[in-house]
Amino acid sequence: MMAMAARSLGYRVQVMDPDPSCPARFVVDACFEGNWNDARAAADLARGSDVITLEIEQVSLACLDAAQKFAPVRPGRELMRIIQDRILQKTWLAEHGFPLGPWRAIESEEDLVKAAAEIGPRLFVKSARGGYDGRSQVKLGFGDATTPAEAWKLLGEKPCVAEQAVELDREISVMVARAPNGETKSFSSAMNHHEKQILAWSVIPSSIRAEMENQAQGIAARIAQEFELEGLIAVEMFVTKSGNLLVNELAPRPHNSYHASERACVTSQFEQAIRAACDLPLGDVSVVQPAAISNLLGDLWFDKEGNCREPRWDAALAVPGVRLHLYEKHSARPGRKMGHLSAVGATPEEAVERVLEAQGKL
Ligand SMILES: Nc1ncnc2c1ncn2[C@@H]1O[C@H](COP(=O)(O)OP(=O)(O)OP(=O)(O)O)[C@@H](O)[C@H]1O
Ligand SMILES: [Mg+2]
Repeated sequence: MMAMAARSLGYRVQVMDPDPSCPARFVVDACFEGNWNDARAAADLARGSDVITLEIEQVSLACLDAAQKFAPVRPGRELMRIIQDRILQKTWLAEHGFPLGPWRAIESEEDLVKAAAEIGPRLFVKSARGGYDGRSQVKLGFGDATTPAEAWKLLGEKPCVAEQAVELDREISVMVARAPNGETKSFSSAMNHHEKQILAWSVIPSSIRAEMENQAQGIAARIAQEFELEGLIAVEMFVTKSGNLLVNELAPRPHNSYHASERACVTSQFEQAIRAACDLPLGDVSVVQPAAISNLLGDLWFDKEGNCREPRWDAALAVPGVRLHLYEKHSARPGRKMGHLSAVGATPEEAVERVLEAQGKL
């Protein structure tokens, strides 16, 4: 989707991806095959490029260093180093005065036992490196009998963070862009609904009250400025039952919760990412109409007996205001994000209603 936005701005695009038939393949001029540690592939990509940007934060620092010899890498290495590791990320946020829920860095089974006693009993334990969509996470103290020892083993006996389970009123995110010239713009907040720790649906605008919206915007803008961001950062936030705003995590790239920006805003997050990476003026982020998305997980490609089938696109597309966005991923697996539906509506509620109605028909 970023490549498509770059194309309509007139750029040529090359990508690096571990999968030579990756989704971007069909819209780019060249595809360099390489895993996220392949510094050589990163250098090959950068040699013929004017600027490098990212849409996944797992790219190794060695790759960023290799690419940086040939072209500016946006967002930069230091920001990526911090965000790639949940312990460094939370430490950075705490040191810069951003609001976080109670958490502990965990380096051993004993640390986890201690954390459960101090900030438990209900914890989310998350690997410091490499997780997404709720993977590399274990819940502790939620009624099943998982012990700290089992959780430590399940997460590979590697550094992780333990977070107190927050009583959530709702979840929001704010996408902020900052160009190398310093210009900064935040989109209106999105409201996000997760199921089994995976984003199920999301809507822009979020309809939280103005005071909290200002606070969320302020947090996102200050994160962008403190990092001297060159690109995008999505700031995922929790609104607690007691009315506080906490930062959950940062994603330095286009984010699933802003896919609806394509329908809701004057400028989509994808175009904004390209504008920021190319040091162009940032686009207008005003909301033109409420829009919602709902994710299409691989589960939809299987019937109750486990047989593979094609979802009923025709039925979903008959719902007013609905569009289909498929990512060209070749194999459907349970829990894998294969695409999304989007819908516009007169109100955020109507947009959500329509997108869920369409999803229900698949
Ligand atoms: N401390 C917590 N308290 C309450 N809910 C939580 C907590 N941590 C995570 N969750 C729930 O799990 C979801 C996923 O958690 P998180 O964002 O940390 O994981 P992730 O794997 O990085 O997900 P993604 O990459 O999809 O954003 C959250 O959006 C929230 O719904
Ligand atoms: Mg998240």
